[in-house]
Amino acid sequence: METKIFKPDEVEAAAKLLKQGELVAFPTETVYGLGADATNEQAASNVYAAKGRPSDNPLIVTVSSIEMVERYAQPLTDEVKQLMAKFWPGSLTIVLPLKPGTLSKTVTGGLDTAAFRMPENQVTLKLIATAGIPIVGPSANTSGKPSPTLAKHVYHDLNGKIAGIVDDGPTQVGVESTIIDMSTDTPTILRPGAVTVAELEQVIGDVKADHHHVGANEIPKAPGMKYKHYAPSAQVEIVDHPADFEAAMDWASKQNEAIGLMATDEVLAQLSVPQNVETYSLGKDIQSATHLLFAGLRHFDLESEVKVIFTEGFDNTGLGAAYMNRLDKSAGGMHFKK
Ligand code: TXA
Ligand code: MG
Repeated sequence: METKIFKPDEVEAAAKLLKQGELVAFPTETVYGLGADATNEQAASNVYAAKGRPSDNPLIVTVSSIEMVERYAQPLTDEVKQLMAKFWPGSLTIVLPLKPGTLSKTVTGGLDTAAFRMPENQVTLKLIATAGIPIVGPSANTSGKPSPTLAKHVYHDLNGKIAGIVDDGPTQVGVESTIIDMSTDTPTILRPGAVTVAELEQVIGDVKADHHHVGANEIPKAPGMKYKHYAPSAQVEIVDHPADFEAAMDWASKQNEAIGLMATDEVLAQLSVPQNVETYSLGKDIQSATHLLFAGLRHFDLESEVKVIFTEGFDNTGLGAAYMNRLDKSAGGMHFKK
């Protein structure tokens, strides 16, 4: 199969493919998603095959209107309506109880809930509205690899396995949406993202955070959280304090292999970088670092043969919670120790 690249003004052709049960990757403001008709069980199961994704990991249902959610979910509570009014379209995925039997087990992983999201991308909203059906939307990467923030990342992982990719340039946020579970008594954050705890609490009061490290034998609330994630071939090591970079460079200078370094411009400007170290700038702050994290990890995977990638850590608050959650998974929890 040849994977076709669609421009933003070609969504009609892409929508037609989706309606025919084909897989089409789509842009969002967080990362690129892998779309398929969420009401077509065969199409949804092809998504697992294309990604190499474990089948107990349910898919996000991506919509272009609240009406589309109401076709499948139990009547929306006031709190849920408030969240949608405030954050949709945007980087918040909301887990809701379903009307029984409305979505297939392939989509829900057998849960009686589903995760709904309305992304902030005009091309994709038009794509879904034109198709007239919600589309499943896991990140459009091979399972375990960093999520795609450019159409070329999708092409690299899925070329020949999917019918098309709608290319709308780089995504803005760079990491996946915040997931909040509204199907339980206490609203619970299952995955941190660009919509922060503080922002959510302003709308609905106290929320609980439940994105601890999930053990191999534990059944996690967001099933995807238990798998190895975002991992390039090289070992990622988190550098917690800018001052530790000097020790990291000292170590690197004694190695015979190439070493990678991902840090903000300020850190890079102050370091003397040994010859065998290849740098990748994370820009100026937590926003740019989040935007560039996955692209940087992919850069080292594709374009260089580094053994270790030292990567700058940030405070675990606000957007930093989303960044550190992904970085920690890429690194398998490994921190550089002096
Ligand atoms: O930003 C995003 O959310 C991107 C873009 C493409 O929309 N999508 C995305 O999908 O990150 P995915 O499949 O890579 O991550 C969805 C996560 C998985 O960890 C999955 O286990 C969890 O959501 N999930 C899906 N349905 C769920 C449910 N009913 N209850 C709890 N967790 C659920
Ligand atoms: Mg993913």
